[in-house]
Amino acid sequence: MRVEPAASLVGHLVVPGDKSISHRAVLIGALAEGETHVHGFGRSGDTQATVDAVRALGAEVEDVSDNELVVHGVGLRGLRAGEIDCRNAGTLMRLLTGVLAGQDGEFTLLGDESLTPRPMERVATPLRRMGADVETTDGHAPLVVRGSGALHGIEVEPEVASAQVKSAILLAALNADAPTTVVERIPTRDHTELMLDAAGVRLRRNATSVTLEPAGALRLDEVVVPGDFSSAAPLFVAAALVPGSDLTIHDLGVNQRRTGLLDVLERMGARVAVFERRRIGGEPVASVQVQPGELVATEIGASEVPGLVDELPLVALLASHARGETRVSGAGELRVKETDRIEAVTDGLRPLGARIRSRPDGWTVTGVPARLRGGRVDARGDHRIAMLGAIAGLGSIEGVAIEGADTAAISFPGFYELLDSVTRR
Ligand code: S3P
Repeated sequence: MRVEPAASLVGHLVVPGDKSISHRAVLIGALAEGETHVHGFGRSGDTQATVDAVRALGAEVEDVSDNELVVHGVGLRGLRAGEIDCRNAGTLMRLLTGVLAGQDGEFTLLGDESLTPRPMERVATPLRRMGADVETTDGHAPLVVRGSGALHGIEVEPEVASAQVKSAILLAALNADAPTTVVERIPTRDHTELMLDAAGVRLRRNATSVTLEPAGALRLDEVVVPGDFSSAAPLFVAAALVPGSDLTIHDLGVNQRRTGLLDVLERMGARVAVFERRRIGGEPVASVQVQPGELVATEIGASEVPGLVDELPLVALLASHARGETRVSGAGELRVKETDRIEAVTDGLRPLGARIRSRPDGWTVTGVPARLRGGRVDARGDHRIAMLGAIAGLGSIEGVAIEGADTAAISFPGFYELLDSVTRR
């Protein structure tokens, strides 16, 4: 796939439903009583893996349409033992491990060649402290979870700032014998907390911790999934980079634990407007408009990372167009995403003309306010790197050829078509 340079990006659009919330709607819907209607479901390679997983575990899921589902819950302990293929979906594997820890029976969780090497002890260790029987394969998938009817409530501070780890613990804690507290010094996305709260679970939250009381039963009824901020992000970055652009995305999830990129865009000199703010089912939603500006370098450290973790590759691209030296640090987690995103970004952007260096936990980028030359980017099987290559192409002189472009469908089927619909050449 080749993405040619853009003259500008102009228009109003919506993006598919949030991937994190879609995974949670299906998993929590499966644990609930009765039916959960999911509107705005973001169907993608990853979320389809979750639908298939809960079906294999005995929960019926009706496909009403591409973006609408009905999940028939089996209750908090009603899932059926089996072997589950989580494919490329780290969120599925980690959250499901927590879900299964309190079920009866033996479950095996498999992943594809990208998911299998990713670290899983980070969920297994706290779950074992709760009394769960979770076996990893040298710290990785395949995982074997032998359900235990006797999980204990614990207080725990996970070893990494990770919403996936926090969520796995909270989902296991639904079936524990006493309250569980998860401490996080750097806040991570809280979609699990918001959805469990909507399902009737008693949660106490403060700035650095969440305490969950074991639940008798969940009742979700309906989930309306807002547009995925992480899918909007490549479009926003393109609009910020390409002069003359003016892009507005409506019905977008703007949970403040997800929108760190908007702060960075503003700091770097792009124009950002957030309007039509409202709440849908506990999640903040709005319209967001981005226009270009004279971009300048910035600094990003560990405390900001969880709020834009999946957008950091795009920040490296922005930085290569921004006057001065940008440093991203405290982002070592990027090395254990779908691929080593620190190296994938450096190896992807440097041949296009970017002055970028990897460091163990981030990058140093020396930017100039000019288009990159262009060339070729290898997605390395990682959807976020494929989309990065496309945006780099729009802002380049010669365009960018993306190797493995199809992998964008892991989170955003239809990405290239949507991008094309707002691109003027
Ligand atoms: C996710 C959390 C993040 C993010 C991932 C989705 C989630 O991972 O990178 O794409 O849905 O909870 P970590 O929380 O492990 O950093």
